[in-house]
Amino acid sequence: MLSIIKNAIAVVKYWYYSYKFPKLRELGFPSQGIAIEQRFNRSYLHWENHLTECKETKEKWLKSIPNTDSQNIWVLGAGRLFDCNIVSLANKFKKVTLVDADPTALGTWAKQQKRISKESVLDFCIQDITGVFEIWISQIKENSSFSQGPEELLSFIAKLPRLSPLKNQTLNCLTEPSVIISLNLLSQIPLMFREWLKTFLIKTFGKNRVLKHEKEWLRVYSNLAQALIEQHLAILNNSKARHILLLTDIEFCQYYNSKTFSSKQAEPIPCLWDKNQGWTTNKAYRNRKQALTLEVSPALFGINLEKGLKDHSLMSNYRLKHTKKWLWHIAPLGIENKVYGTVHRVAAFELQLYNK
Ligand SMILES: C[S@@+](CC[C@H](N)C(=O)[O-])C[C@H]1O[C@@H](n2cnc3c(N)ncnc32)[C@H](O)[C@@H]1O
Repeated sequence: MLSIIKNAIAVVKYWYYSYKFPKLRELGFPSQGIAIEQRFNRSYLHWENHLTECKETKEKWLKSIPNTDSQNIWVLGAGRLFDCNIVSLANKFKKVTLVDADPTALGTWAKQQKRISKESVLDFCIQDITGVFEIWISQIKENSSFSQGPEELLSFIAKLPRLSPLKNQTLNCLTEPSVIISLNLLSQIPLMFREWLKTFLIKTFGKNRVLKHEKEWLRVYSNLAQALIEQHLAILNNSKARHILLLTDIEFCQYYNSKTFSSKQAEPIPCLWDKNQGWTTNKAYRNRKQALTLEVSPALFGINLEKGLKDHSLMSNYRLKHTKKWLWHIAPLGIENKVYGTVHRVAAFELQLYNK
């Protein structure tokens, strides 16, 4: 009964916010937000380690920030705030601005208002942080009517304009920040565009033709995805915020139910999913070397974030003060999927603005 009521509320929420934010609906942000909430409800026991790491890392980092730098803070990718405690932010900063492209997060944010002291201001900003999706979508739609086939449209898409990372062009509802948290957002930025593009290509050219050109469209998408990630890092780099906490996936790992593989492809790894033994995500990762059932892939489209932050090639205005990594058992085998499960390697980078 409770789950029926919860589902009904989710449907009402989806339609209400989709009606109010049609462009963000077209990109799939409201449905993705609701899906995140449902995944959390199903897998929270497995997410606990990750959520605790996020919160503890943030609390420790907050303590290192002097009060003179505590004017305002942006939380980019705030979403449902599963991974961030707003009260401690509001205790430290005069103004906390929550940013996300998913309007269904507004309900969660409004509830937070009651939890914080009257002296601090909580501000909400529903916006696509890239600033390019709306432009890209309208240009792709316009061009598709002249394109003879997928090849022609894909070569147009490959040349879509990249926006200058000046923050005024992209984050127009925000003022100068003193501190920023980029909250498990970076690897997610290109994903909604990928889904939109795939659906659009199928609608325009049919499933078979898109399948035939799968390699091409994925290559075009990967280049755009890399540009989006670089753009987010450039926005952070140009923000002039005195302190930045960048939390992001850096690696994805899929592990498979060995029964679905031939013996050539995989060895059984019983410890991976065994309720009685108790699952730990670290176990999955340690098995990476000896078990063929694990497939590890980079999360950031060829960008080596840690190296780029250390050698300043990615964010030249910032010094990398501290790095921490852990695992997030985001989609446990048997809960999200019968065939495979997914673990993410997450990193937290503490960055400080150079005094130039
Ligand atoms: C993995 S979730 C982060 C978890 C989130 N802090 C929570 O607890 O729900 C990624 C968040 O980034 C947001 N996001 C992804 N792409 C975005 C974009 N282009 N602009 C703004 N927000 C975006 C999603 O809507 C989602 O809420």
